[in-house]
Amino acid sequence: MIKKSTESQNFGTQFYTFLNSTPRAFQEKIAGSYNAIKGVYPICSHAMPQPLWKKRGYNDDGDQVWEKICRLFRQNTPQPVSVYVHVPFCQQKCGFCDCLSLPIKDSLTADRFVSALQMEIKAWGQLPGIKECPVTVLYFGGGTPNSLPDALFEQVLRMLKKTFQIHEDTQISVECNAHLLTPERLRMLKTLGVNRISIGVQTLQEPLRFRLGRHSSAKEVLTAIQRCKGSGFITCADVIYGLPEQNMNVFLDTLQSLIDAGIDGLSLYRFNLRQQNQEFIKKTFPRFHISELKNYVYFQAGHCLLNQAGYQKNHFIHFVRSDNNLYYRHVLRSEDLIALGPTADGVIGFYRYRHPHLKGYLLKDKNNRPKFEGGTDESQTMKTRPLTAALMCGEIVEEKMRSAGLGPLLSKWQSCDILEPSGSGRCRLTANGSWLIDPIIDEVKRALDG
Ligand SMILES: C[S@@+](CC[C@H](N)C(=O)[O-])C[C@H]1O[C@@H](n2cnc3c(N)ncnc32)[C@H](O)[C@@H]1O
Ligand code: SF4
Repeated sequence: MIKKSTESQNFGTQFYTFLNSTPRAFQEKIAGSYNAIKGVYPICSHAMPQPLWKKRGYNDDGDQVWEKICRLFRQNTPQPVSVYVHVPFCQQKCGFCDCLSLPIKDSLTADRFVSALQMEIKAWGQLPGIKECPVTVLYFGGGTPNSLPDALFEQVLRMLKKTFQIHEDTQISVECNAHLLTPERLRMLKTLGVNRISIGVQTLQEPLRFRLGRHSSAKEVLTAIQRCKGSGFITCADVIYGLPEQNMNVFLDTLQSLIDAGIDGLSLYRFNLRQQNQEFIKKTFPRFHISELKNYVYFQAGHCLLNQAGYQKNHFIHFVRSDNNLYYRHVLRSEDLIALGPTADGVIGFYRYRHPHLKGYLLKDKNNRPKFEGGTDESQTMKTRPLTAALMCGEIVEEKMRSAGLGPLLSKWQSCDILEPSGSGRCRLTANGSWLIDPIIDEVKRALDG
């Protein structure tokens, strides 16, 4: 008992030490958020919600997936869809990164990848009704999709346009690295109809950027942002908090510089230490350790600054001023997600499938079918999916929660400063709500599924 109270006292003392590193104007708000969840939810329970297959494995092996997808397409009436294409390459691998990406070593690998991807696009194109499904958003993620040679990128995009119903209102979004955004490349992207660019900024703090394995200077990143905005792209950025040797002032300075540059949308990622980056971090920053309490204070302070500058969330980690980030919100629109490329994870109705890593993806299939790792029937999430989608996108209708029997949860979340009113009987996620997204989704599942 005594030990527990000492621990929580230390935790409280640490919290106030971190709080003092934030601007005075934010301190009352952050202290209020902390006190509202203290003793109810552990601060260290922050995590990204995981798909069911990660927890329970697959129902179907890779060979059964395509048959299932074909069957679903034969049964379904055409409706709007979202399309994701994973490009697993980068020019060089940054040491801090935990994404599934590889350095693009030679043009042969890029060629082999593009021909496997083209084979997959062709297979999707043969599904009944595919051309009648309007594409709301086409999202190129990675890796760094613009590390592909321009001619190959163009070839892929043109084939996608022939295969799917990509129209003038389709949002075409590409994850990019600032130093690859030359004026010529931006012109090419514009000509191809790309209208949204998401740049991995991470931090503008120097020399930390270079120690993390980034090659462009802060000035070059800001120039690339100006260039994208000047060419009429919706321009967004990824920023990481909790990086080694980052401090509160420079974290907030990074956000402020992006706000001043007129960034349209901004994702705030908590730094992850995983198998992919562990060795690099240990070697480069031997004294680094993760403090979730410190990360919590960073996220709260970033949230305050972005709200003050007029940004609101349209997803639990994405803040928008003039971005509408259609990709993150496909579940809220009840759209299928057709995902192509290695490790890409898609959903057709309540069927979720996943592709293998690059090596498996490149293997030839005698029937020229795309390669899959496995598939899972998620119809058990039928009851919970609408509400979890609403939570992740921060658009909760109070009445819907009450009529689903979740009135007590609603009251609990309001008293813990997890939800706040946003008008017309709706609530949105506060900073606590974003931080606790995984445990609150679990609470919904337990309440609805028993
Ligand atoms: C797939 S990357 C694409 C960005 C692009 N390749 C670039 O680096 O400019 C998407 C984002 O994941 C985030 N990310 C990468 N490694 C991370 C880590 N270890 N912890 C948290 N976020 C990470 C970064 O913010 C990155 O911009
Ligand atoms: S941060 Fe971006 S460029 Fe760097 S390795 Fe990760 S995906 Fe590639």
